[in-house]
Amino acid sequence: MEVLFYLILLSNLKLFFSRLLYDIIDVKRGSRMNLEHIKKTDPVIAEQIELELKRQQETIELIASENITSLAVMEAAGSVLTNKYAEGKPHKRFYNGCEHVDVIEEIAQKRACELFQVDHANVQPHSGAQANMAVFMYCLKPGDKVLGMDLSNGGHLSHGSPVNFSGLYFDVASYGVDEEGNIDYDDVLKKAKEHKPKLIICGASNYSKIIDFKRFREIADEVGAYLLADIAHIAGLVVAGLHPSPAPYADFVTTTTHKSLRGPRGGITMCREEHAMGIDKAIFPGMQGGPLEHIIAAKAVALHEAMQPEFKTYAEQIIKNAKALAQGLMDEGMDIVGGMTENHLMTLDLRRTGKTGKDMANVLERVGITANKNTVPNDPQSPFVTSGIRLGTPAVTTRGFKEDDMVEVAKIIASAIYASDNEQGLKNLRERSLKLCKKYPLYQ
Ligand SMILES: Cc1ncc(COP(=O)(O)O)c(C=O)c1O
Repeated sequence: MEVLFYLILLSNLKLFFSRLLYDIIDVKRGSRMNLEHIKKTDPVIAEQIELELKRQQETIELIASENITSLAVMEAAGSVLTNKYAEGKPHKRFYNGCEHVDVIEEIAQKRACELFQVDHANVQPHSGAQANMAVFMYCLKPGDKVLGMDLSNGGHLSHGSPVNFSGLYFDVASYGVDEEGNIDYDDVLKKAKEHKPKLIICGASNYSKIIDFKRFREIADEVGAYLLADIAHIAGLVVAGLHPSPAPYADFVTTTTHKSLRGPRGGITMCREEHAMGIDKAIFPGMQGGPLEHIIAAKAVALHEAMQPEFKTYAEQIIKNAKALAQGLMDEGMDIVGGMTENHLMTLDLRRTGKTGKDMANVLERVGITANKNTVPNDPQSPFVTSGIRLGTPAVTTRGFKEDDMVEVAKIIASAIYASDNEQGLKNLRERSLKLCKKYPLYQ
């Protein structure tokens, strides 16, 4: 008996020390990403994941729609839940063995309702575009009229672009922004009266001002349209109370979970109680099969994180950083569409520099800054070339960047654009961006 006791104690101690050793090696390697098994079975993919981690660690991420999730979110996304089929809704599934995913999905729904102050939340959409598609499927028939924000003025593909399902199967009219980058609400009303849409979409992929959801409601009411508020970009700011919520005004609210909300890649469709059953049916069986329960668990974890007081501080810092970046760029003589930003993003207007968004986004990549080319209002360039670059601060804020750092980032951006042909200059700027990355280690 005593021998057995000592044997068990010994094996437990061995396990404890080997885990400790593994953790120490892992941390020393500078990585919390455990790729132990992929490395053995599929080294080619393991290598690319490691290189991607290094890329993220060593670049300043200014793509406005990206963020850096917590390890907790990633653990849920990489969990055994990926093995489970769960077509249907919690407690009304087409498969057995769903007792745990039912609990998880209900928690995710409840947290979404609480955070966004909505009656109903379906957390199954695989992405933001699908979250929107559910609304189209529920309240429109092919050929029905929709009024959405034009893609080149800041709207999203799924708001009626001719190359997207929303533009291919529905009759779309669009509104844009004025030279100052503001939505002209009178023009939206005029277009609504002219086209009599069944659905009006507000919310954007590239809009740096506060959106007046109440005004959109009034416009929708004037023409008897449903109102969809797509808050994919600003969701994190909305739940932190830093951007007005569309919940009191919109019939439907959609969001992605991976932008300022800082969760896994995915979408959520929310609505008033009267639309709940219809929206659920549109998602399944209407447009999706089995939900991704591992991602739903990760959404639940992210929503829990967004309920904590630290998240509000984080969201406040996103805006402070965006303002510091915009001011820094303007101090360097650069133009920002609409001037000072009111949220997490801005568009650099390159027209006065004579350079294009496409070329300058590539130059920024060479100095260790990732951003994307974007059209500016009335852009003389094509959408493939553009005269602008969209910049956003959710990811760098997660990393720990503060206002002073954003001023340095602004200087690096401006210097790279002004002296984009100076090879040595670009190398020096790369050193400066690397220094900032090292100041705020990622997943280490
Ligand atoms: C406003 C808006 N809606 C929807 C989407 C689509 O999200 P996803 O890429 O997850 O389909 C985006 C993505 O950028 C977006 O900006």
